[in-house]
Amino acid sequence: MIEDIQEVFFSEEDLAAIVARLGAQISEDYKDKNLLLVSVLKGAVVFMADLMRSITIPCKIDFLTASSYHDATVPTDEVKITKDLTIRDVQGYDILIVEDILDTGRTLQRLTGVLEHKGARSVSICTLLDKPERRDPNVTIKPKYIGASVRNEFVVGYGLDFAQKYRNLPFIGILKPEVYLTSRDEIKRGV
Ligand code: IMP
Ligand code: MG
Repeated sequence: MIEDIQEVFFSEEDLAAIVARLGAQISEDYKDKNLLLVSVLKGAVVFMADLMRSITIPCKIDFLTASSYHDATVPTDEVKITKDLTIRDVQGYDILIVEDILDTGRTLQRLTGVLEHKGARSVSICTLLDKPERRDPNVTIKPKYIGASVRNEFVVGYGLDFAQKYRNLPFIGILKPEVYLTSRDEIKRGV
């Protein structure tokens, strides 16, 4: 797997430092609140596991799955919740959505709206990575916490995937161009 990586953007040490900084800030900001961490599957699961252990105040956790459809036949990109929270009543909770990467922002715009509609006391966002160049101009949400900003390149590792692979890399980096080409070839051949 490692031989497919072109360049490492964030080493394990870099990620640990980012997580420690965010965890300390969140612990301070939410000490008098009722914190519920909501992680977006699957990409944010590694970040969630580390972040929750760097938070020193009591909190609960939950998970949801969202999928986006970029279908040319519908006028707007639709985001669907395919696995909902197990906590049914979120009233009284201060929700912090834990996300791997904020790209166009459409997924989190929609999720924020849904969770606010369910009656959460507050809904904020903690994203490990942010790609501000890619933001949809119609998206108005702003993350409360950002681990780091990245330029407009496709990154993998630490939960982030390419075609469902590379999530288990302990660091974040970019793939060699030939990996994408081989993969495209395999998809064409039905491998
Ligand atoms: P968006 O902000 O609604 O466009 O969607 C963000 C989602 O797209 C993230 O949660 C990731 O699952 C995926 N994504 C966006 N950029 C990348 C990337 O560079 N690598 C891996 N997944 C990405
Ligand atoms: Mg994601």
